[in-house]
Order: sequence, then structure tokens, then C-alpha cells
Amino acid sequence: MPSLPVLRQLFREVASRKDSWRIPEPNLVMEDADQVTSFHEAGREDGVMAPLYLFHAVQICEVIKPGDTVVDLGCGPANQLGLIAALNPDVKFIGIDLSDEMLGMAERNLKDKGITNVTLMHGDITDLNMLGAASVDAVMTTVVLHHLPDEASLFRCFSEVQRVLKPGGGLYLVDFAHLKTEAAIHYFAYQYEGRQPEIFAVDYLNSLRAAFELDTWERGWSKHLKDFGDLHSTFMVPYMVSAKSPSRRALPDPMLKQLNEFYLGMPSYQQTDFNDLATFFRFGGLKSPNIV
Ligand SMILES: C[S@@+](CC[C@H](N)C(=O)[O-])C[C@H]1O[C@@H](n2cnc3c(N)ncnc32)[C@H](O)[C@@H]1O
Repeated sequence: MPSLPVLRQLFREVASRKDSWRIPEPNLVMEDADQVTSFHEAGREDGVMAPLYLFHAVQICEVIKPGDTVVDLGCGPANQLGLIAALNPDVKFIGIDLSDEMLGMAERNLKDKGITNVTLMHGDITDLNMLGAASVDAVMTTVVLHHLPDEASLFRCFSEVQRVLKPGGGLYLVDFAHLKTEAAIHYFAYQYEGRQPEIFAVDYLNSLRAAFELDTWERGWSKHLKDFGDLHSTFMVPYMVSAKSPSRRALPDPMLKQLNEFYLGMPSYQQTDFNDLATFFRFGGLKSPNIV
């Protein structure tokens, strides 16, 4: 059962008239050192984004297999990537980002965690010229695509994914989708007030304002990605949207145990966030393996 404050906000959103339209991110590529640090801290195991990262890690682990080469588009500080790389030591990962500041943070982060199966590359996710056609086994990306300036760039990125991914390859692309009202955008952006610095709330606000409409996702997915997997959004309100290929394996028991330990190590408010996301995605058609 989703938490009451979230439910209240969602019913208000459903009943309201649309008053919010996309405003591209002021910082498309995240080069500002303070912004990079606050984003990295929010994504650490004790940060407010940990439940999101855990949820997406579970999804991504289902679409990758030992021996794969997996590309992470817009890897940022490699919080998400580091978690998945640690869970999958037999998979080779390539993290691509346009921000040197982020790549520097990612390098330090991976080194601190002793992770050696990730190669970082400076590059633009709308032009993956460093990768050949049908050269990668899986593509992942988490909360990045709203950083693209416009619909044409989003579709170019989808077309690049279509080009580089092997037939039958793994896919997990996830991002925010555009909410109907500014009130809902404010609610989600400031829900962690007190737990995070103001700069993170502003960053989150800008992200939700820059999110693409679900309809844009549907058109891009149907043009480029529908042969690789299905598109799902969270039930009632498309707070998040994901394109996911069919699962390519059942998660092995030791991995389920590690994911379960991560979940149990989170404070209860983070477990609630994880459960809410899993519930709303499940009712939107995206199933998750049970780790709890
Ligand atoms: C919000 S962060 C997400 C980072 C990471 N995926 C995560 O989940 O923690 C978005 C990242 O996308 C990067 N980015 C934005 N536009 C990009 C582009 N065209 N090509 C590559 N990276 C880009 C930014 O520099 C930033 O590091």
C-alpha cells in the first residue's frame, strides 16, 4: 500500500488541469562542482536517491548477463553504475558522460569502492560514434534523458541505442516523465527538504520541469525501440517512465541476498520510497523480482 502523503498528492494531480510544460535543464551537462558533489551525496547508500538506485539496479540486473558488455548512458558520478558493477563482477561496463567534472567524480568513486570492471568515456549520448553497430549486449540509463535539450536529441539518442544494441540485447532506460502540474513537481522536488541541501532540491525541481512528456517517450520508443522491449510508466501519474527488454536471466540467489541486505540496511523512509516506486511501476505493468 503506497504511503498516504504520496496518494493524496497523486489524487490531486489526477484531478487537476495541466499547467506545466517542459523547460529544458539550465545545466544540460552537469559541470558545476557543487552540483556534482550534492548529486553524488544524494546517490550514496545513505542518500535520498538510494531507494531509486536500488529499484533500478534490480531491474538492470535482470537484463544483463555474465560476459556482457553494457553501456551506461550519462553515468554521472557512477553511483548507480558502481552499485550494478559491484553486483556483476563478470560484466564489462562502459560509462559515458559529457561532463569532465562528473567523470572525475566517477573515477574517484569507483576507485574508492575497488570496482575495476568499468571503463569511463567522455562522449555524447546522442552520438555514440565510439561504438560500432550491434556491438553491445545491453544499454542502461538512469535519470539522464531529461538533460537532452529537445525532442530531436532524445530521438537521436534512441536511434543510437537502436544502432549499437545487439538484436535481443538488454535494455533499461528510465527517467522522470513530465507531471501535469507545478504543484506536483514542487511536492516531489521538496519532499526531502531537511535531508538534502537546497542545491539538490533545485536540481530535482529543474529535472522534473525538464522531463519529457510521456507522449514524447511513446513516439520515440515506437519509432526506435519497440523491438527491444516495452514501455511502462508509473500508474495513475507518470512520475517515471521506463523502456525495458524482457528479462535475460533469473537473478541468482547470492545476488538476491545482496539486494535484500541493501534494502534491509535502508532506513524506513527509504524502504517506503522503494516500496512506493515498485508498487506504482507494478500497477503500470513493470514487474520486479521480489527482493524483500
Ligand atoms: C542527473 S545525472 C544522472 C547520472 C547517473 N545516471 C545516475 O543515475 O546517477 C545526468 C548526467 O547526464 C550527463 N549528460 C547530460 N547530457 C549528456 C549528453 N548529451 N551526453 C552525455 N552525458 C550527458 C550529465 O553530465 C550528468 O552527469
